[in-house]
Amino acid sequence: MPYPATRLRRMRRDAFSRALMRETTLLPSDLIMVAFVIEGDNRREPIASMPGIERVSLDQLELLAGACVAAGIPALALFPSPPASVKTEDGREAWNPEGLFQRAARALKAKFPELGLIGDVALDPYTTHGQDGLIDASGYILNDATIEALVKMTLAQADAGFDIVAPSDMMDGRVGAMRAALEKAGHVNTRILAYSAKYASSFYGPFRDAVGSAGHLGKGNKHSYQMDMGNSDEALREVELDLAEGADMVMVKPGLPYLDIVRRVKDRFGAPTFVYQVSGEYAMLKAAAQNGWLDEKAVVLESLTAIKRAGADAILTYYALDAARWLTERS
Ligand code: PBG
Repeated sequence: MPYPATRLRRMRRDAFSRALMRETTLLPSDLIMVAFVIEGDNRREPIASMPGIERVSLDQLELLAGACVAAGIPALALFPSPPASVKTEDGREAWNPEGLFQRAARALKAKFPELGLIGDVALDPYTTHGQDGLIDASGYILNDATIEALVKMTLAQADAGFDIVAPSDMMDGRVGAMRAALEKAGHVNTRILAYSAKYASSFYGPFRDAVGSAGHLGKGNKHSYQMDMGNSDEALREVELDLAEGADMVMVKPGLPYLDIVRRVKDRFGAPTFVYQVSGEYAMLKAAAQNGWLDEKAVVLESLTAIKRAGADAILTYYALDAARWLTERS
């Protein structure tokens, strides 16, 4: 029915009718907090490119985990920031059962069994070259040899109590290898969150500062394994393979610049689809807010709602705790 029978502004006139017709609403239960753990006691290290986010020692991490539970955030994605002294060419510290990451998981699961704990499966925090995999003499990242290392990490993390293992490396075939190893070891309920469509993005810069891989990576890049920004069909092929190999959830990353990919993935597969609002997205919003150029609460909630509207079932975000607080204040 054309105008004037149809006046779309009628429903926008009042808050009550806007609320009734709203299709997408953001909830704390849509959010996953991201945290960086370091060795030591009572330590909090600021990350210059991510104001408001700190690397924290385990005792402080427990406070953060408690805050997530209190805020109704279902899960925490953990990343290690190990000291340079444990980094090696092959990243073997990654599967040390007594390593920082595994100790952190045991402590968190003992204290907060109800909080879903997501472990990152990739070698970059542990390698002297800052790449996610093992390299050959020319610096090329080896696929199949890296998978063997990722399987060891997976088992170490599952043994330590991580509920979800999340390969963020983009090697071919790693999900299948991880799934098979988990089944064989009896970890049949350990879930796999596959970073399926992970782009070679420059929005990861602040994260590399946070885990301390930036200096090691130097002028290196990840274009031989992460996806090219111009591609979209390839993302569907990646997701299809990861689901076939046994992924329980798939992920698109970064978030806001890649929402077209999120929508295609959700429409095509209807699988649990997660989005990572990455460190550079956080840094942009934070910097503009700190300059007084944008209203932080409003633009963060708008960005997260847009990600959910595009098809995300859950969002990994450094803003999870803030957003959960703002959402509760609002209602
Ligand atoms: C590496 C990894 C990266 C992120 C998560 N895992 C960076 C990279 O690929 O270099 C990025 C997260 C963010 O930017 O917030 N395995």
